[in-house]
Amino acid sequence: MAPASKTAALVEQAFGVEFNLVDGESGELVYASPDQPGADWQMRAELFREVARRGRPEFVEEEPPLVVLALPLAGADECVAVAIFVTRPVLPGDDVSQAARALGIDPEEALRWASRQTPWAPGSLERVGRLVIKQAAAGARIKELEEDTESLSVNLAATYEEISLLYRLTQNLKISQSDKDLGRVALEWMQEVVPAEGLAIQLLPVAGEDDSLTRGGRTHSVLLSFGRCPVDDEQFSRLAEHLNLRESSQPTVVNPPATQDDSWPFPQVEQLITVPLAEGRNVFGWLAAFNHVSGEEFGTVEASLLSSVGAILGIHSGNIELYRQQSELLAGVVRALTSAIDAKDPYTCGHSDRVARIAVRLAQELGCDQKLVDTIYLSGLLHDIGKIGIDDSVLRKPGKLSEEEYEHIKTHVRIGHRILVDLKKLDEVLPVVLYHHESWDGRGYPRRLAGEEIPLSARIVAVADSLDAMGSDRPYRERMPDEKIDDIFRSGAAKQWDAQVVDALLRARDDIREIMRDER
Ligand SMILES: [Fe+2]
Repeated sequence: MAPASKTAALVEQAFGVEFNLVDGESGELVYASPDQPGADWQMRAELFREVARRGRPEFVEEEPPLVVLALPLAGADECVAVAIFVTRPVLPGDDVSQAARALGIDPEEALRWASRQTPWAPGSLERVGRLVIKQAAAGARIKELEEDTESLSVNLAATYEEISLLYRLTQNLKISQSDKDLGRVALEWMQEVVPAEGLAIQLLPVAGEDDSLTRGGRTHSVLLSFGRCPVDDEQFSRLAEHLNLRESSQPTVVNPPATQDDSWPFPQVEQLITVPLAEGRNVFGWLAAFNHVSGEEFGTVEASLLSSVGAILGIHSGNIELYRQQSELLAGVVRALTSAIDAKDPYTCGHSDRVARIAVRLAQELGCDQKLVDTIYLSGLLHDIGKIGIDDSVLRKPGKLSEEEYEHIKTHVRIGHRILVDLKKLDEVLPVVLYHHESWDGRGYPRRLAGEEIPLSARIVAVADSLDAMGSDRPYRERMPDEKIDDIFRSGAAKQWDAQVVDALLRARDDIREIMRDER
């Protein structure tokens, strides 16, 4: 048996001889060094235990010229290194029998051994012993720190990945990002961090009907999945019901043996974590990790990461829902205002709605983005809101208007602007309300803007407005024939109207005539 530990090697290096090793707890010899005479160490077991307990170098026997030095070795060894030293030169004729007997060594063997040893001053032995113990303690501490650093850096790497994932998600929390898109991004990023074979998000239906804007509520659940997801949408719903997920705001973790039980209805799911996508009491769906990549159990680390992602997705879904409800409310308010305009001017009933839909078709033909299309729809509905402030007698007059009456009608654009100017949500509608009677050649009203000084949305609504006026019956005239309308637009392009909008109208005229027929 050889002393294997680093500390024992350190002792040998410092003193130039190999030490015996004694177990610090029992006091019994565990290694007998060939450099040392065979002494009776058993009788000193109690002393060695004491040395191990006190933790400093000690002479456990002093029988000149022999001394026994005991060094408690720190660290995992829990050993005491023990060695006999001579404290003065011993010659072949010397008598060491008393000291030898005290240590339980044959006197002749003791003399032979002692005469070959280099003598040490007891003070030096003690000092070197202390140094060795300090060095060993420092070594053990360094080892401990190295282990700590190693586990810390592993943890740090995992934490960094988690934080970076959560940060990237929060950067995507835009209201324009749909919950499905954000969910897909989250799943893709999570598979880098979560040791699961499959990940999934089930988004639940959102109450509410489609509104007249472009955003509608979701009428049935949707399952987004990444990797090897062992369930489909219908199975996920059953799983949610089986685990009673609706009742839990906490992560639900299911591992074997629960998943090996006969009562577990999803044998393809061996390990599972689910967390709700919730904001307050509203649950918008669930996020789930299926089957650990190495068959281990899912634990609190994975559950807490999923919870954080679930909370972010829940907040986003909550915001989207709030935005959708606000949009619905706004659409309701706009519909109410539109009805008010129509009630005021029964001859043009349905005009605002048709203008809105025609303007949307023109905007699409011109390649406008969805946000502008939405704005143009609202603008079409509200462009004549100022007519609420025009005298009924003028508005409903069947014949030709006098100069004065015409001037009065023209004020509807400014009145409309005043009505809506304080509604923050309708900011983008204002230019259309104010400028839908401007003319490309600068001869319109109220500000005689020309060309591209007139906002595009107002130029589009102007065309839609004129088209609907020409295409509708009036008390004093019948609707114009389509060919005549086309001719008027062709000749008015780049004069009254923006030529590119007129082109769009002529390109999309079949769709637009359909809209005009629908609404009558
Ligand atoms: Fe108008």
